Amino acid sequence: MNIAPPRSLGGRILVAIAAVVVLLILISAGSWLWLKTTQPIVSDPPPGLLSVLTEPIPDGPNADLIRRGRYLTIAGDCASCHTSRNGRPFQGGLGLQTPFGIIYSANLTSDRENGIGAWTPEQFFRALHDGVAPGGKHLYPALPYPHFTIVSRSETDAILAYLKTVPAVHYAQPANRFPFPLNIRASLIGWDALEFSPHSFHANPAMSPQWNRGAYLVEGLGHCGACHTPKSILGAEIHDQAYRGAAIENWVAPDLTANPRTGLGRWSAADIVQYLRSGRNAHANASGLMGEVVAYSTSLMSDTDLSAIATYLKSLPPSPSHPSPAPEASAMRTGSAIFFDGCTACHLGGGRGQPGMFPPLQGSSVAQQNDPTGVIRLILAGTRTAPTRTRPSFQSMPSFAWKLSDQEVADVATYVRNSWGNRAPPVDAHEVAAIRSKLNLTHPLTRDQR
Ligand code: HEC
Ligand code: HEC
Ligand code: HEC
Repeated sequence: MNIAPPRSLGGRILVAIAAVVVLLILISAGSWLWLKTTQPIVSDPPPGLLSVLTEPIPDGPNADLIRRGRYLTIAGDCASCHTSRNGRPFQGGLGLQTPFGIIYSANLTSDRENGIGAWTPEQFFRALHDGVAPGGKHLYPALPYPHFTIVSRSETDAILAYLKTVPAVHYAQPANRFPFPLNIRASLIGWDALEFSPHSFHANPAMSPQWNRGAYLVEGLGHCGACHTPKSILGAEIHDQAYRGAAIENWVAPDLTANPRTGLGRWSAADIVQYLRSGRNAHANASGLMGEVVAYSTSLMSDTDLSAIATYLKSLPPSPSHPSPAPEASAMRTGSAIFFDGCTACHLGGGRGQPGMFPPLQGSSVAQQNDPTGVIRLILAGTRTAPTRTRPSFQSMPSFAWKLSDQEVADVATYVRNSWGNRAPPVDAHEVAAIRSKLNLTHPLTRDQR
């Protein structure tokens, strides 16, 4: 038998200190990853981006490969993260806000020095499959490589072929603004070891080709779970809670399972396709983070792929329903008065809405998420539905931050969450205050916050 020699007290203390340091590094890296997909607050589209994504690609050598690569780039929504507000398409430098600091996306143009112009297909595959860039540089999972890992080599080759046609922009993104130890890329080795193993997609032979295509897109390039799946304290997606909804950057990415109240149980596959294609349907409109996903990704995808995504989503088993305490009668009374005064002009009495324009609040899953963050944010900050080619008009909901107190916002939210058959936990004024301060909404809104 091989018995380890007893360690001295000093030795044990050193080992203990080392373990604590490693744990701290892991936890801080992890909690950072928790917000790994934090995205920009909605803004006007960066100039020229949509036309770069949609204008016809002329015939020429490799034209088919390049077209396929652009389509896959769209399916991966690479453009939203890799284009800064006033920057050129794919030049990077978009600051993704996290509570720990700011990370800037990389330059993906054909620039040889700062972009991917000099990358080999092997290097590019490794970045997306393993999260490691040339030179052994470990990438932060703000680049959703835990999803992109399943993207096939032939697809990453096509994406690279397309990106190499994107006009070079000689631009280096600013240095990330992270405190120690997050600024050390090596801290990601520990996280990768614990939470990530590169793998490829295995089709489920029991399911249809359409379902498998949907699974491949949703789990892979679409990285839908990056926002819609709750995360552990180490920031990894909790697989047995997949797609049950999660708060992200003061929004809630709702439950996408078959739960009829909080999820997509009441949506048909056609409803899902319509939402992803046009940014709205009879149930809901897409704005904020999802508005960007729709604008630069799903609205430009083929109907076949959107139907595949819908088929896969419709197969997700319902999340468990949580009991919610009954709201107080006084909150419902005040909430009802505020609703008739401030909300019925658009959402109509009975929360019926004007589907396709102003979403119905009766049965709204956004309104009934267990976590009220999204509803509070909508009422405080207002929002703007993402315009798409099929539905180019802007629909907006005004901000009520300047008009309603924390208690009033809580009451009208409680009312909307518990009327017309809706049921969700009542909202407390403290929750509203916390979000008001996070959104810095004590002052009149600036355009950037909308
Ligand atoms: C949610 C935001 C987000 C999305 C979506 C995204 N990226 Fe990124 N990507 C980033 C960030 C942030 C970095 C910088 C990571 C770092 O510095 O470690 C990055 C880095 C990269 C890098 C490394 C570049 C370098 O010079 O080190 C490559 C390659 C890359 N992304 C490709 C892609 C492709 C291809 C897609 C679409 C299939 C994509 N990304 C989608 C945020 C994103
Ligand atoms: C960057 C984060 C993010 C990503 C990535 C993302 N979503 Fe969303 N999604 C959201 C948010 C936030 C909402 C709520 C939008 C709103 O209230 O306007 C949402 C809403 C939705 C809704 C409407 C739900 C409802 O009940 O109203 C559907 C359907 C949806 N997303 C599907 C997807 C699919 C499919 C993907 C992957 C292709 C995806 N999402 C990727 C953040 C995201
Ligand atoms: C000027 C019209 C207008 C007014 C007034 C208005 N809203 Fe809205 N509301 C909208 C629009 C447009 C959306 C869709 C936003 C989007 O794209 O997600 C919306 C969305 C919502 C949603 C999310 C519904 C879903 O399923 O996506 C809730 C909840 C909501 N509003 C509550 C309220 C409350 C409460 C009030 C009153 C305090 C109010 N609204 C006043 C226009 C309005």
